[in-house]
Amino acid sequence: MGETSRVQQSDTLRRTRNFCCGLFSVLLFLAISAVSLSAADEGERLFEQKCGKCHGIGKSRSKAMTEKEWRSTVLRMIGNGADISRDDTEKIIAYLAKNHPRK
Ligand code: HEC
Repeated sequence: MGETSRVQQSDTLRRTRNFCCGLFSVLLFLAISAVSLSAADEGERLFEQKCGKCHGIGKSRSKAMTEKEWRSTVLRMIGNGADISRDDTEKIIAYLAKNHPRK
């Protein structure tokens, strides 16, 4: 009897482990998706917050530029007096380059 129950036990253990492993992968995937999603949202939020102060954001929305061009535009805005941290600058450039690329 001892033999059978030990086999059963290890089988249950393995199944439990597989289940936990699967669950963990799903949770990890969800966490990563949530982080990358919120990073993208943040670029948009920062853009709307920081780039609509002196002129409307429509000025930028109507443009289509490469990342390099967006970079020089955003840096010029900082020269114009925009108060944007280095970190936020990168997020805004990434957002604009992705969502308003030159066609
Ligand atoms: C401190 C005020 C200020 C802020 C904040 C500001 N801008 Fe500007 N923006 C200006 C001024 C002044 C001009 C016109 C002179 C120029 O083009 O540099 C302008 C012009 C522009 C233009 C038109 C350029 C062209 O070639 O016609 C775009 C696009 C633009 N801004 C995008 C942005 C973006 C993107 C942000 C956020 C990162 C931003 N602006 C934030 C002052 C600002």
